[in-house]
Amino acid sequence: MLKVLIIDDEESIRDSFSFYLEDLNYTVFTAENGERGVELFKDILPDIVLVDLRMPKMDGMEVLANIHSSSPETPVIVISGTGEINDALEALRAGAWDFLTKPISNLGVLKHAIDDKLKKASLIRDNKQQLKDLKYSNDQLEKMAKEAWDAKREAEASNRSKSEFMAVITHDLRTPLNGISGLTDLLLMNSPTEKQVKYLNMIKTSGNNLLSLVNNILDYSKIEANKIKLEQIEFNIRDLLKEIIDHIFTIADEKGLKLELEIDENIPEIIIGDSSRLRQIVTNLLSNAIKFTETGFVKVGISLKEQKNKSAEFQVIVEDTGIGFDQSKALILFEEFTQAEQSTTRKYGGTGLGLAIVKKLVKLLDGEISVESEPGKGSTFGFTFKMNLP
Ligand SMILES: Nc1ncnc2c1ncn2[C@@H]1O[C@H](COP(=O)(O)OP(=O)(O)OP(=O)(O)O)[C@@H](O)[C@H]1O
Ligand SMILES: [Mg+2]
Repeated sequence: MLKVLIIDDEESIRDSFSFYLEDLNYTVFTAENGERGVELFKDILPDIVLVDLRMPKMDGMEVLANIHSSSPETPVIVISGTGEINDALEALRAGAWDFLTKPISNLGVLKHAIDDKLKKASLIRDNKQQLKDLKYSNDQLEKMAKEAWDAKREAEASNRSKSEFMAVITHDLRTPLNGISGLTDLLLMNSPTEKQVKYLNMIKTSGNNLLSLVNNILDYSKIEANKIKLEQIEFNIRDLLKEIIDHIFTIADEKGLKLELEIDENIPEIIIGDSSRLRQIVTNLLSNAIKFTETGFVKVGISLKEQKNKSAEFQVIVEDTGIGFDQSKALILFEEFTQAEQSTTRKYGGTGLGLAIVKKLVKLLDGEISVESEPGKGSTFGFTFKMNLP
């Protein structure tokens, strides 16, 4: 049952309110002055308080201030005999929830005021609980987000130092590998026997494979460790592509493959950017195309996609008539150490790092890469890149 505390020095008021409210099933407590009222309040902790303004010992305003400071969520209705607007304002400002004037001829008004304030108090309580729940969930969420953030930072830092370590190690591995390759060449020139030639060539092939693996890991680690700084150098893009083709020509020729270069005539002569990264991307795609093609042709094409003032976007394609692969594998091939078939390494060599490097480099050049392929028909890799114009 709800508890009502009535604080009034007029006995008739206390009695009439009590009878009326008890009839309505409230439990009523009464106090004949402010001091007693505050004491009783602490003892019984009522759900609502009705307090008179003018009383001996401690007046209604003081009672109000007292209750409001210790338990602001308890509604207090001030009931005054004067009905002065200033009293009302002062009371409301001090935390009263309502202000009624005596005599209250229709007690229904009192009931209505009490019910209304109790409802409001319960709403506020619910709201507070909800706010508390909300704040708790929010705190939990913040805590989890912070933990995730810390974990991410830690993982990134450890990944970066691992990549830095790999970059240093692979760099150091290259020197002795170059030594092995150079010395094998010397031995080959020193009239070895037929058997020795066979073994020396095997050493050379293994050394070259190892060198290309080390080079790939070095490149990959450098990108991962954020060690790549893009250069901004003027270069002739036609010359660059011709150089790449010339460089790789013998390998294609030995396999009897036609090697074509198609340069869109709109391509500007000179562009500004990191030519060595571009060379790396094209070389990688081109060596894949030659590696995975037995007959037919391999074609490199470049066209201008967009030109705006001092910058241009280009599109390069590398097309072959090789073994191809199932289009569903297209995405995973750009991940590190993945190949289309289990048997790829055995048949063609390599470790599956090339395309992962290419993808990262293309991203560095502000571009995108994609591929279309069909088993037995061939593949077309296409990528875009952006560079500046002089
Ligand atoms: N032009 C292509 N034709 C057919 N398959 C290709 C072609 N290019 C790539 N692939 C497939 O994608 C895989 C991944 O290529 P990626 O260049 O990353 O590795 P890789 O050439 O096998 O080894 P690495 O480049 O590290 O020496 C290849 O193993 C091959 O299965
Ligand atoms: Mg490759």
